[in-house]
Amino acid sequence: ADSPKIIINFKTYSESSGEKAKQLAIHAEEVHDLSGVDIAIAPQAVDLKAIRDVVNIPVYAQHIDPISPGNSTGLYLPEALMEAGINGTLINHSEKPLKLAAIDEIIEITKKYDLTSILCSNNIRTSAACAALNPDFIAIEPPALIASGYAVSQCEPEIVSNTIAAVHEINDSIPVLCGAGITNGDDVKAALDLGAEGVLLASGVVKAEDSKAVLEDLVSKI
Ligand code: G3P
Repeated sequence: ADSPKIIINFKTYSESSGEKAKQLAIHAEEVHDLSGVDIAIAPQAVDLKAIRDVVNIPVYAQHIDPISPGNSTGLYLPEALMEAGINGTLINHSEKPLKLAAIDEIIEITKKYDLTSILCSNNIRTSAACAALNPDFIAIEPPALIASGYAVSQCEPEIVSNTIAAVHEINDSIPVLCGAGITNGDDVKAALDLGAEGVLLASGVVKAEDSKAVLEDLVSKI
């Protein structure tokens, strides 16, 4: 079977911006190389190119806009992010929620360009709706637990297992990831035991005093 997937969302923390983003990306790659676990990172758009130049692990955008080249000031053009070296993108993160039609268009763009699509959802019902759009991954993240330090996989395990069931009722080939409050290897193991195929996390790694030690711990129980 494939390795479980660990996605580090850099969000907009100062600890994961600019030079610090590069350092964190290098740590993620080192832990990938040592463990063989599939670790991907989602830095801010402005840091993508510099990070792509220093690591080989998958690099995802945090968002892309469903636009074609032209006059769209302030938006993120898929082709430009691809030139910066992305392998995929998060879609509809609860901090960047989108309309259904936009999500559908973005997934079409990811298929056209062979980018990995990680479609985020905030609850069980929306996760089931997401399954109909056929992304590569669905990532359930209950907003209330984001950045809380309380792991969804340990504190609200039924959200994870019920999401997996709801998604697989629609399409049982879509792997489900979970996120919110994940900070250590036990949280990751709990997620995998529930049937998730990986996790997304941010603050537990980004805000840690020793991010590399946290990354090592995350993969230690897989
Ligand atoms: O995309 C990951 C995320 O929203 C979870 O954030 O800080 O709870 O790990 P955090």
